[in-house]
Amino acid sequence: MRIDVVTIFPEYLSALDVSLIGKARRDGLLEIHVHDLRDHTVDRHRTVDDTPYGGGAGMVMKPEPWALALESIAEAGRSAGLGRPVLLVPTPSGELFRQSVAQELSAADHLVVACGRYEGIDERLFHWARELFEVRLVSLGDYVLNGGEVAALAMIEAIGRLVPGVVGNPESLVEESHSDGLLEYPVYTKPSSWRGHEVPDVLLSGDHGRVAAWRREQQLERTRRRRPDLLPDPAAD
Ligand code: ADE
Repeated sequence: MRIDVVTIFPEYLSALDVSLIGKARRDGLLEIHVHDLRDHTVDRHRTVDDTPYGGGAGMVMKPEPWALALESIAEAGRSAGLGRPVLLVPTPSGELFRQSVAQELSAADHLVVACGRYEGIDERLFHWARELFEVRLVSLGDYVLNGGEVAALAMIEAIGRLVPGVVGNPESLVEESHSDGLLEYPVYTKPSSWRGHEVPDVLLSGDHGRVAAWRREQQLERTRRRRPDLLPDPAAD
């Protein structure tokens, strides 16, 4: 998978050199390019923002530097024989970025992440981009970050680890929170007795059937308690 990230803070993305994603890059499973949006400005001050039409607080990102950056990236993807790219735009006003979205996007061969700052990017950019990209505006959750970079890191990690080969043991992707719509069951390791806290007996029983049933019950109980919104609505038919 090829991933291009466009930002005014390229150094923010240095976390992509580390750990599993860093190794996947070195192994050639993920080809990640980070671009400085300011390299696509044409004025002396390398301006990327301006005041909002209609007034209001803050600044808005100008569409032209984005269009120039995205055009050159789309062209690079085309020359490399990649399919229609997905433009992923982290924004608090996007659809919720869930595991199912990560799963869908992990099948793409070219992902382009546009990290906005300030009050966001001029809306016309997204309409224009539809010609070249499948455009997805996505939010990490119901809170506001200072820009898209931290969200981009989270999304790239969530998507990248689903690309075959990135996680060494693919079994670990099966039994984790959200993979089946529920939260993961609690996990324990040695020692079985630690500072007066015991591992549940069932996990020491060696009875795989009982362990599986207990884990399922824990998943349901945890999800009911912490995230009831994930369970089917009993009032719905
Ligand atoms: N940019 C700013 N806040 C964000 C959020 N909650 N999710 C994604 N991108 C963002």
